[in-house]
Amino acid sequence: MMIIKAAWIRNWTETEGMFEVRLLKRQFRRLFFGGSMEKITVPVIRGRKGGEPITMLTAYDFPFAQLVDAAGVEVILVGDSVGNVVLGYPNTLPVTVDEMIHHTRAVVRGAKRALVVTDMPFMSYQESIEQARKNAGRMIKESGAEAVKVEGGTRMRDVIRAIVDIDIPVMAHIGLTPQSVNAMGGYKVQGKGAAEELLMEDAKAIEESGAFSVVLEGVPRDAAKKITEMLSIPTIGIGAGPDCDGQVLVLHDLLGLLGQFRPKFVKSYVNLAEQIEKGVKEYIGEVKSGAFPDDSHSFH
Ligand code: KIV
Repeated sequence: MMIIKAAWIRNWTETEGMFEVRLLKRQFRRLFFGGSMEKITVPVIRGRKGGEPITMLTAYDFPFAQLVDAAGVEVILVGDSVGNVVLGYPNTLPVTVDEMIHHTRAVVRGAKRALVVTDMPFMSYQESIEQARKNAGRMIKESGAEAVKVEGGTRMRDVIRAIVDIDIPVMAHIGLTPQSVNAMGGYKVQGKGAAEELLMEDAKAIEESGAFSVVLEGVPRDAAKKITEMLSIPTIGIGAGPDCDGQVLVLHDLLGLLGQFRPKFVKSYVNLAEQIEKGVKEYIGEVKSGAFPDDSHSFH
């Protein structure tokens, strides 16, 4: 097997080959020096309640899905944040089911181990139970994702139950739900003060509806802690403090690809925007000066 792989790698062009070799090395290391290769499924995540923290990141395409999966992230969310992060929309509202399926198919092709969850976009489940089931079914059938994510608490309880009833696992999402940006009057922390009671009710409702986990976004740390202690399903936080059962970030935020604006809850672990600018400027300089390509980049 290794011999076949080595021959196959040699046939690759140099750049693609280097990329693949690096991924193989990382997978080899994980296999022999720690980190389980077990496929992450919905029951695995469900069983993590109160255990080892769950790691979730967004991805929207094949190369990033491969990298994130090989690095060991357990859940890849194809978020409808694809709208503002990748497609240049002002928010998530214009994203369509077809766009979600297109991006999710690419991610599924890149993810070997992680659980892939895809976001149901705005107005793909709000009209009726029938519409919600039809679109959830389409998204799973046509994209290969293993679960869908639905925004909303108590008001979405029947929708979540109807999707779960046809054996499509649902990750819920309460607190700051970006599809409600107009109703909220902006991206504001939810569940503060008296509103905490309503947030707790949302949390109970989605658990009773059969969701296997819930994203808590933009809620006070104390409220997230109370919800995490109250629910029997894992909570995955973003801007919800450290007491959740797991954490999620938008990948482009983590990688420092979205410029200077950084919400309080974001931590950028690298600054790829800076490195990309540096690389591109060097390339421009070398082409202009004639330093690239030189003889070593030429065929004879
Ligand atoms: O669309 C998205 O990226 C999300 C995460 C922020 C949870 O919903």
